[in-house]
Amino acid sequence: MTLALASRRATDALSEERPEPVRDFASDLLAALGTTPRSIAPKYFYDRDGSKLFDQICDLPEYYPTRTELQILKDRAGEIAAHMGPNAELVEFGAGSLTKVRLLLDAMQSPKRYIPIDISGEHLESAASVLKADYPLLQVKPVVADYTQAFMLPAALPDSGQRVGFFPGSTIGNFTPPEAVQFLRMAATVLHGGALLVGADLVKDPTVLHAAYSDAQGVTAAFNLNLLARANRELGADFDLAQFAHSAFYNAPLKRIEMHLMSRVRQVVHVCGWRFTFEEGETLHTENSHKFTVDGLRALAIQAGFTPGPVWTDAQQLFSVHWLNAPK
Ligand code: AVJ
Repeated sequence: MTLALASRRATDALSEERPEPVRDFASDLLAALGTTPRSIAPKYFYDRDGSKLFDQICDLPEYYPTRTELQILKDRAGEIAAHMGPNAELVEFGAGSLTKVRLLLDAMQSPKRYIPIDISGEHLESAASVLKADYPLLQVKPVVADYTQAFMLPAALPDSGQRVGFFPGSTIGNFTPPEAVQFLRMAATVLHGGALLVGADLVKDPTVLHAAYSDAQGVTAAFNLNLLARANRELGADFDLAQFAHSAFYNAPLKRIEMHLMSRVRQVVHVCGWRFTFEEGETLHTENSHKFTVDGLRALAIQAGFTPGPVWTDAQQLFSVHWLNAPK
């Protein structure tokens, strides 16, 4: 790997004039490329195009998590809403397109307020305005933030019921186990005395997992490669997307799908005026998607101070939804 002297463009990319998310992406990508092995946080998938591609993934025949979790939420909405009680305030971490929450809102007794938190501002604002129109009595307060960093939440309303966190989709699987505990500790603080409803994908036959993360239509490949396209768009990088391959495999000892972008040839790329060499077969690790056992997820929650409540799964045991009581 070669690091040239920082050019004027590198300084520009990191300068205060750039919006914060772009600066973060620039510095995190440069840091990733300057380290061996190379890896970057999956949150950078979700620009406008990436968020759209993710929505397409959710509709793929091979991608069972979204469909299965929706079915569990549909079947159990009444039971879950009973646990929430009246006038509850819902805080969703990584809200995306705001479809799953509707199942909860429809079953809840006079939900007080809904606070979706998401890193993709444009996507969040448009989804929030659609939701507002459909639920005129609900207060909707979108918060554009990266929930893996410090963020501000509005104070609880005086006459509201319990504050319930919602973290669906097995996004918790993007964290390593210690990071998941760290996230859960943060959630416990934000939800003090309330509860967290979290979706977790279950350990299963790797064949099923491989199909879900390397779909026949290549949508997941496009989603993965969009990270490089985004770097080209936002940072003026010169990644040749045809020279990188999507790679996704199950790492059984670590119980996780790993996604990588693999260099098809030895090549040089430029990002913000820096020069980096990829050897043939060298990868940029873009995502971990951990799979859980029911007891494994509950053990992480206990480590973070939660008291696990009921767990709901589908008949095939593909996916799990956990009610976790937050400490007072
Ligand atoms: C949004 C993190 C839950 O890990 O399954 C889908 C993202 N990556 N296909 C997942 C994803 C590739 C997804 N999460």
